[in-house]
Amino acid sequence: MDSTKNTAIVGLQWGDEGKGKIVDLLTAKHDVIVRYNGGANAGHTVVVGDEKYALHLIPSGILYDDKQCVIGNGVVVDPVKLIEEIDTLRDRGIEVGDNLKISNRAHVVMPYHKEHDAALERKLSQVAGKGDQSIGTTKRGIGPAYADKIHRATAIRMGDLLHYDALLDTLKVTCSIRCAELSALGVDAPPLDPIALADEFAAYGKRLAPHIIDTVYELHECVQTEKTILFEGANACLLDIDHGTFPYVTSSNCSALGIHAGTGLPGKCVNDVLGIMKAYSTRVGSGPFPSEELGSIGEKIRERGNEFGTTTGRPRRCGWLDLVAVKYSAMICGTTSIACMLLDVLSGFDELKICVGYQMPDGTISNRFVPDARLLAEVKPLYETFAGWSEEIDEITSPDDLPANAKAYLDFISEYLELPISIVSVGPKRSQTVI
Ligand code: GDP
Ligand code: IMO
Ligand code: MG
Repeated sequence: MDSTKNTAIVGLQWGDEGKGKIVDLLTAKHDVIVRYNGGANAGHTVVVGDEKYALHLIPSGILYDDKQCVIGNGVVVDPVKLIEEIDTLRDRGIEVGDNLKISNRAHVVMPYHKEHDAALERKLSQVAGKGDQSIGTTKRGIGPAYADKIHRATAIRMGDLLHYDALLDTLKVTCSIRCAELSALGVDAPPLDPIALADEFAAYGKRLAPHIIDTVYELHECVQTEKTILFEGANACLLDIDHGTFPYVTSSNCSALGIHAGTGLPGKCVNDVLGIMKAYSTRVGSGPFPSEELGSIGEKIRERGNEFGTTTGRPRRCGWLDLVAVKYSAMICGTTSIACMLLDVLSGFDELKICVGYQMPDGTISNRFVPDARLLAEVKPLYETFAGWSEEIDEITSPDDLPANAKAYLDFISEYLELPISIVSVGPKRSQTVI
């Protein structure tokens, strides 16, 4: 990784690849760390010494005291969660002041977005004659907040929290529409009170005002003054609204393609794209997962990898590495190198499998990913089998010390993806990294 360049960190699977750890590691070599998509659906874990931090909205670079952190215009911000996160970090001795900037154009997640998210999921979980059709969202209001962004007239942006009258005007329209929608979804709640909401959210605005700026000009100034930028992707490529396993996706462009719209920086501002992948696969929520292991293998991966959601605590679905999927994501994201995470979790398996192709419902073989949930649910994974290794590898820091079978596993990944592996992670700590 060239320390004079701007780097994007992007998940190549269904999230939770270990992006937080890598953002934290690479923050040392960059000046500015920017979130460009998603919201509090993300949960990025950073372990520093004996301390563990779970970040949802604030860029993981906040743990360094001399870096600028930016929440870009493409993010949907829940002010309640953000203030909670700021306070928790401050209580733990982390400075959050001038080092955090929030785009005045980032959209606001309101309480009715979260209610709508939960109510729609409830409704979808019991569709007559079809059973459970829910997405398995994080219920953080992400989809409804982005929907309001697209609807325009009903949306509220961070900058609006600083203008009471305009905020109230929008809320008067939005609340009546939302009430009707929520009651159509079966929510038996008291009517939404625009004045109470405007008062509450203007107070959040007042609290966050020192951070709220036009981040687009700020970021362009960083580029002009040759500060280096690290883009922190949230969610992951296979959850991208356009390129993921639709409809089982999130509501933003969480591949690398979202960087430009979500920050206001053009393509030439991203020099390297580091694709983050686990040495196996996981997924939280619904949707097809061809290499999922529902028996003891999946259970062993979940146990060894402690695969429980950082945001919701849900057990993650686990399975073998699907390189067809990862190669597709690497292509979409313009990936220039790979960080292979959680390799330590695979110690102690007699054999390991990697999915290298799909048998399609008509019997043909394909090495192309299928970003269509209905069809992907019907493919059969085709595997290459590898000999495992028994030794624990979580204290290894040099590639030469990795077991021969672990090296062969990594070599295969690199050859299949036609990309160099620049980082191998063998534990959650900064020190548990092979570069
Ligand atoms: P993110 O959403 O991509 O930032 O990933 P999460 O933080 O949701 O989940 C990754 C989990 O794996 C966290 O608990 C990390 O502390 C942990 N982790 C990261 N890298 C490694 C690794 O190499 N080995 C192990 N065992 N855990 C890791
Ligand atoms: P990080 O950044 C894993 C999944 C949810 C659900 C779908 C839609 O920690 O890798 P949403 O609440 O966004 O409407 O949910 O997307 N999802 C994630 N899964 N890691 C994430 O983020 C995720 N963000 C969203 O589980 O299936
Ligand atoms: Mg996560």
